[in-house]
Amino acid sequence: MSSAVLPTGDAWELDGRTVLVRVDFNVPVTPGPDGPEVADDFRIRTAIPLFQDLQARGARVVACTHFGRPHGRVDARYAVEPIRRRLDELCPGVELLENLRFDPGEESNDPAFGASLVQGRDVYVNEAFGASHRAHASVMVPPRLVPSAAGPNLRREVSFLLDALEEPARPFVAIVGGAKVADKLGVVRALAQRADTVIVGGAMAYTFELAAGRAVGASLVDESAVASCRDLLATGKVVIPVDTRGLAVGVPVGEGGGDAEPVDFGAQIPEGAEGFDIGARSVDLFAQTLAPARTVFWNGPLGFFEDPRFAVGTEAIARLVASSSALSIVGGGDSAAALKRFGLEAQIDFVSSGGGASLELLEFGDLPGLRALREGRAS
Ligand code: 3PG
Repeated sequence: MSSAVLPTGDAWELDGRTVLVRVDFNVPVTPGPDGPEVADDFRIRTAIPLFQDLQARGARVVACTHFGRPHGRVDARYAVEPIRRRLDELCPGVELLENLRFDPGEESNDPAFGASLVQGRDVYVNEAFGASHRAHASVMVPPRLVPSAAGPNLRREVSFLLDALEEPARPFVAIVGGAKVADKLGVVRALAQRADTVIVGGAMAYTFELAAGRAVGASLVDESAVASCRDLLATGKVVIPVDTRGLAVGVPVGEGGGDAEPVDFGAQIPEGAEGFDIGARSVDLFAQTLAPARTVFWNGPLGFFEDPRFAVGTEAIARLVASSSALSIVGGGDSAAALKRFGLEAQIDFVSSGGGASLELLEFGDLPGLRALREGRAS
């Protein structure tokens, strides 16, 4: 699969026609003086050039999105009104339908619900990369019914996450962090096949350390993943932390232990103690591993970075990736939030807008929403 095989809709004659655009405006919303307001409009702003292009070509634009997980029920907390207000400020004239997930037919991929979305609309554009790993009605059904295309941001995501990483400039070094090892094993496996080295950090690294025969104290581990981690270590491509920063025995764990002073452990974490970040020797090791890289992919924090005491590893890696002369690609969610926190976003070649979608695309090389576009009607 490559971005080149996705239909673009560039040749469509749109004057006087109506375009349904599936977007991913699943954005954070906070209480404001006049009701809920959008806290981060990044996902809305990225769709504006497409809306403007469609409007300039004479089309009426109707957008649709999911917002949160109301699971098929109307729930005022997930009404799109605050998103609609922000959209109207950024690009007047675009209609935004109510939250797709208020209807149970969205998640059950109901053909009738999908058909109702394109009723009275002439063509469809999927610009919702972040939702394209979900086989939901608004993603799957329209391409079967009306001429359909992949939006420019969707194609850009595929081009960076697939095309660029399929034949990368080498050395290609991947960094994978995060808490849940089970969620990331598939992507580590897929990256181990393509990359020259895969650096593993974050809480998921403790299961790898256990698999390598090291003591991990009371750190988060997933016993059911130890054998898979051992197999991955046997590939010789996986690099894990050599030391840990955490909290000593007796300090309450979970939320990071209040105000307790962090402790630097070596390679072995004492019984009862818990790791929350990589240590200074690991930062050096990862810096050396990253130095020759010509392609870098990063997904997931290297520690419990929400707590400033344990943000050292994540910030160090974010700075290394940002200052690297390699092509740098960052896969959504927490890593994007970390880059933003450290003010480094602008120094990254490509930051994916989709968390789950970017990992599934790397792991499986395709997504249900991309398949639907390839197999659907292009004209
Ligand atoms: C996201 O925010 O990652 C996407 O909008 C997907 O949301 P979902 O995990 O609720 O499907």
